Amino acid sequence: MTSSIPFIDLRVQRQRIEADLCRRMDAVLEHGQFILGPEVAEFERRLGEFAGVDHVVGCANGTDALVLSMRALGVEPGDHVIVPAFTFCATAEAVVLCGAVPVFTDVDERTFNLTATTLAAALESCAANAIAPVGIIAVDLFGQAANYDALHEVVGGHDLWILGDAAQSFGGSFAGRRVGSLARVNTVSFFPAKPLGCYGDGGAVLTDDADLAQLLRSLRFHGKGAHQYDNVRIGYNSRLDTLQAAVLLAKLEVFEEELTARQQVADRYSAGLHDVAAVPFIADAARSAWAQYTLLFEPGRRDDVAAALREQGIPTGIYYAQPLHRQTAYREYPVVAGGLPVSEDLASRVLSLPMHAYLDPSLQDRIVELVRAAC
Ligand SMILES: Cc1ncc(COP(=O)(O)O)c(C=O)c1O
Repeated sequence: MTSSIPFIDLRVQRQRIEADLCRRMDAVLEHGQFILGPEVAEFERRLGEFAGVDHVVGCANGTDALVLSMRALGVEPGDHVIVPAFTFCATAEAVVLCGAVPVFTDVDERTFNLTATTLAAALESCAANAIAPVGIIAVDLFGQAANYDALHEVVGGHDLWILGDAAQSFGGSFAGRRVGSLARVNTVSFFPAKPLGCYGDGGAVLTDDADLAQLLRSLRFHGKGAHQYDNVRIGYNSRLDTLQAAVLLAKLEVFEEELTARQQVADRYSAGLHDVAAVPFIADAARSAWAQYTLLFEPGRRDDVAAALREQGIPTGIYYAQPLHRQTAYREYPVVAGGLPVSEDLASRVLSLPMHAYLDPSLQDRIVELVRAAC
């Protein structure tokens, strides 16, 4: 057994940005405006410029970003919301936290995202079962954006909103447009392991809708009206910490270069592994943020590969070993007609390799060799 390497290594990045990071964090400690200090507004503005959207509302985490968005969109208890089953639990959890009901839908076998086909099937199934969903949450799994243009086309005639859960894809793009600008409302997470992560929890909602943004600013601050002690609605305590905004400002400076490096890491993996496993499929129009680099193996083989790498100190991840409709907490919620065979198949075959912008090429060569040998 050799010593193990981290799955995501944040140390090299910290060394690179340390001077800027410390300067920005010291400034916050000095001015002491820890809640909604000037760094939050600056970060919201800079993130909006990066993504090409008019309004960014920082909040406490990516799960809250989903809850706040649905509250702002008017989701009521008992409403139904279509969500993919192959995602992190927060996508469906946020629906339930709003008192609404997730309707689990299958995903595309190549992109792992909702597509026009899977969404049309979900809407048909809802109609056949007298379920009238109010909206759809599309997830950009592992860093690749869903095709929102195609999804919008499917909902064309229906009065439904589409929310983009971009927790994993911020930094990516589709048809030349940045993630964050692809749906009417887009949510991101700054969990430390995300492509753009802070040093704790953080999240944001991105939208071009000024009224929605105003509502979100109220909801994140206890439903405030004209001022902090004017309470006009029931809200949340869900603000992005000033210190985290300072961290994110420092990381945003190097983010574009890191995205290029992540693409190089992904290309290197795919070049070395395409003949022994199914490597990620990225649509022509998409640029992934590579939150994960995820291979598909034949059922049974995946666990052998993971064990062989673990033996050599190389960690792997399984995202996600169970689709949500198989999880204890979500078993009672409706599933579209025909079940979710793709989500179930993917859950039995996915394996993610170490992925970050500073992965050393020689270490990566070793990982490739070990995967090949295990195959
Ligand atoms: C797809 C997806 N949605 C939502 C979230 C929730 O984000 P957070 O952990 O910041 O609450 C995550 C985080 O892992 C995620 O991957």
